[in-house]
Amino acid sequence: MYSASDPRATLAPAAPGAPSAPSGLGYPADYVVFHDAPPAEVDPGGSRHWYARDHLNVAPWAPWPLAADGERIRIYSLDVPRVEGRLGRIWRCSTLMVNLSWPYEGPRDETKLSPHSHPDFEQGSLIVAGEYVHHIRWPWTSDRRAWREDEHVVCGSPSVTIIPPPTVHTSEGRGTGANHLIDIFAPPRQDFSERPGWVLNADEYPMPPS
Ligand SMILES: [Fe+2]
Repeated sequence: MYSASDPRATLAPAAPGAPSAPSGLGYPADYVVFHDAPPAEVDPGGSRHWYARDHLNVAPWAPWPLAADGERIRIYSLDVPRVEGRLGRIWRCSTLMVNLSWPYEGPRDETKLSPHSHPDFEQGSLIVAGEYVHHIRWPWTSDRRAWREDEHVVCGSPSVTIIPPPTVHTSEGRGTGANHLIDIFAPPRQDFSERPGWVLNADEYPMPPS
């Protein structure tokens, strides 16, 4: 798992003089730079990429259909009304999906967390404001060698954490100011896409044929 405390996986703030972030976020935001060297415990020699080998719990990646009117840059407003029962603000393209959760001020209510799991895809959790604790629990499968201690990883911003399947996980904002998390999935999530109205640009990017 990538951790903000691991310099090989931390996202770096933008260099001085870099263009400012788009307006409308409500707080200053830097651009981020990915460091893709694998964690030492996975690849002590550092000679192979983290994703050079198949992940036992990650389904093979395949792109979704292109937009009907072809490839071009699409810009969407973050000014989306809150709708009861709809999760965050979700967009997708042919290769990935982003869910811009709603920022909140101050720590999350610890009595209303949302532990869950997904069996066959990773989750990239990009913190763009505040500080979070990523709570991660590995399931007790029949193979005891796969068991792990629970993890409660503190990550500031900007940072990205890759949450592996099939862990039970939830993220708890605990910054005193704005806390904001963006979840990234590649390819787009089928389950979110099947929820009516959840994907805000679903009419532009078709789902794969079933
Ligand atoms: Fe998740």
